[in-house]
Amino acid sequence: MREQATMKSKTSLRTLIAVPAAIAMATGAAVAAGGKTLEYKHNHWHFSGPFGAYDEEALQRGFQVYRTVCASCHAVEQLSFRNLGDVGGPFHLAECPAGVAEGTDCTKPSDNPVVKAIAAEYEVTDGPDDSGDMFKRKGLPSDRIPGPYANEQQARAANGGAYPPNLALIMKARHHGPDYVYSLLTGYEAAPETVVMGPTQHYNPYFAGDMTTLMKPEFLNEEGHPIEGVEVPPGGVLAMAPPLSDGVVDYADELVPETVDQYAKDVVEFLTWASEPKMEQRKSLGVVTMGYLLILTLILFFSYRTIWSKVEH
Ligand code: HEC
Repeated sequence: MREQATMKSKTSLRTLIAVPAAIAMATGAAVAAGGKTLEYKHNHWHFSGPFGAYDEEALQRGFQVYRTVCASCHAVEQLSFRNLGDVGGPFHLAECPAGVAEGTDCTKPSDNPVVKAIAAEYEVTDGPDDSGDMFKRKGLPSDRIPGPYANEQQARAANGGAYPPNLALIMKARHHGPDYVYSLLTGYEAAPETVVMGPTQHYNPYFAGDMTTLMKPEFLNEEGHPIEGVEVPPGGVLAMAPPLSDGVVDYADELVPETVDQYAKDVVEFLTWASEPKMEQRKSLGVVTMGYLLILTLILFFSYRTIWSKVEH
C-alpha cells in the first residue's frame, strides 16, 4: 500500500518535470525553425524617458510624411483634424499669427487657422441631406481625418489581400513600437539568395515571419530543415513595398535631410504622438506627483524627528 503511494507520487513528480520540459523543447524547436527577426535598431527618441517631449517640428514633418506617403494606404482612424492643434500636437498655436481676425482664440484647435486650412484641403463625406443623399464637402476641424478606403474589404482588395493597419494605434500594438517601425521602414533588403519570393512579397529582416517556408528546396533537407552550413534568414516577407525613398518628401526646412532615415524618424515621432497625444500631460503629472510625494516624505521625516526628540530616554 505504502509502496504504491510512493510510486504514485514518483510518477506525478515525473510528469511534473516532463511536461514543462516537453513544452520548453517544443517552443525551442519552433524558434530554431526560424521566426527570428534582427534586433531592432535602437534610436535615441527624445520623447522617451520621464522628461521626454515631442519635438513640434519633427511632428509637423512627420505629419507631412504620413500625408504624402503613408495616407494613400493607411488610415489614422482615431484622429480628428482638431487633434493636430491640441496642446502638444504638431500645429498647436500659443497665439494667433498676423492677419487673423481680432477676437479669435487660436489656442483653441477648432479656431486654429493652420488646422482649419489643413482640414479644408481634404474632402469628407457628410449627410444624409434632406433628400437622403450623402454629399461631399470640405473638411472642418471637427471631422475625423479621412482614411484612403471605405472599409477593410476595399483596403484588402487594393493591396493584394493584405490589410494596411490603422497607423494611429500601431505604436501601441507592437512591442517597442518606435524602434520597430523605424527599423522596418529603414530595414528593407534584397531577398537572400536562399529564398524564392512571390511578386508581391518584400523581404524585411525586422518583420516577424518564418523564412524557412520560402527557402529553395536545394537548401532544405528531407525534414524541411535547412542543410548544414545554411541559415534561415531572419525576419519575414510583407505585402508593403518599401514606402520611402530619398527625396520623396519635400521639407520646407532646407537644413533637414530628405533621406529615408530622416523621414522614418519623423513619421515615427508623428505616429507615436498619434497613439498617445496626451503623453506630455501624463509625464508632467507624474513629475508633479513625485515632487509632492518627496515633499510629503520630508515633512513626515522631520515631524517624526521633532516628535521623538521630546521623548526622554
Ligand atoms: C502602397 C500602400 C502602402 C503604403 C504607401 C504604405 N503602406 Fe504600410 N502597409 C501596407 C500594407 C498592405 C501592409 C500590410 C503588410 C502585410 O501584412 O503583409 C502595411 C503594413 C504596415 C505596417 C505594419 C507592419 C506590421 O508589423 O504588421 C506598418 C508599421 C506600416 N505599414 C507603416 C507604414 C508607413 C509609416 C508608411 C508611410 C511611410 C506606409 N506604411 C506606407 C501598405 C502600404
